Amino acid sequence: MNITVCFDKLDPAPWVQALQAALPQARVSAWAPGAPQSDLAVVWAPPQQFIDEQPGLQALFNIGAGVDALLQLRLPATLKVVRLDDAGMSVQMAEYVCHAVIRHFREFDGYDADTLTGKWSYRKPRSRADFAVGVMGLGVLGERVAKALQAFDFPVNGYSRSPRQIDGVRCFAGQDQLSQFLQASRILVNLMPLTPETEDILCRATLSQLQRGGYLINVARGRHLVDEDLIALLDEGHLAGATLDVFRTEPLPAGHPFWQHPNITVTPHTAARTLREESVAQIVGKILALQRGEPIRGVVDPQRGY
Ligand SMILES: NC(=O)c1ccc[n+]([C@@H]2O[C@H](COP(=O)([O-])OP(=O)(O)OC[C@H]3O[C@@H](n4cnc5c(N)ncnc54)[C@H](OP(=O)(O)O)[C@@H]3O)[C@@H](O)[C@H]2O)c1
Repeated sequence: MNITVCFDKLDPAPWVQALQAALPQARVSAWAPGAPQSDLAVVWAPPQQFIDEQPGLQALFNIGAGVDALLQLRLPATLKVVRLDDAGMSVQMAEYVCHAVIRHFREFDGYDADTLTGKWSYRKPRSRADFAVGVMGLGVLGERVAKALQAFDFPVNGYSRSPRQIDGVRCFAGQDQLSQFLQASRILVNLMPLTPETEDILCRATLSQLQRGGYLINVARGRHLVDEDLIALLDEGHLAGATLDVFRTEPLPAGHPFWQHPNITVTPHTAARTLREESVAQIVGKILALQRGEPIRGVVDPQRGY
């Protein structure tokens, strides 16, 4: 079995080494143009040339959860695209989102500003019943985030494409229930995949339906959000703030209004990072299962786009 590793802007060497150590019977190498044919590939943002030069590939293992960029390539219809299911990402996402929700709810930015000027400030406790959190996307990451928020007693709403049931979470599904979901939420967490259906979904029409004083946490993809609509709703006072980890252009260009906006917190696409050890173990498990002819989790449906 030949396995090739093809990464954009990421050193493949440690991955080749780790995969080779875990699969001694396979031949693992880093891809370069003109390389021999492989059976399987481990990829991150591979170029079209890689796909075109490797027609014998049976499966592509993406070392992330989001496959939107991969599905932009011309892929043979028979090629299986497999994503990481969790591999240590969901706990990071839960940490990130709970941190952002709590920082906003407990007004820690305000305390920080006061502390800088030596002011001993007091703020009235707010009621968490007034801060329902809506988690858009109840997949591998969204469900973990919803459960983590419940542990802090926030009312949690969830939104997905098909109906879901999660204990203690008020679940909404499909376009018909989107307005109800938004109107029931004050803080919105986006954890949907980027697909033609979800692109630009965070816009004036949707964000303005959040309860007044709403707050946006976008940790999915930058192209979900219409940047100007967010700024307008913040400046008009309908939204109180936003924490953004993902952007239409990354790195976020110098001079972009998000950098300087007083109510926006920017982080550099770091909410849930790929962890090499966990990811290699998961990919190896899936490769061995495929060899035994067993079904595996995380196979992407190209029609659905995730
Ligand atoms: N910032 C970071 O560091 C980082 C790290 C990893 C991932 N991400 C992003 O997080 C996203 C989510 O990851 P995941 O692993 O949780 O995804 P996932 O397991 O594929 O789950 C996606 C969820 O979104 C729902 N959904 C999809 N299309 C929808 C639509 N049109 N309307 C309503 N709901 C829709 C799905 O509904 P169903 O349940 O009905 O299928 C599912 O609940 C990734 O795609 C990626 O973009 C970001």
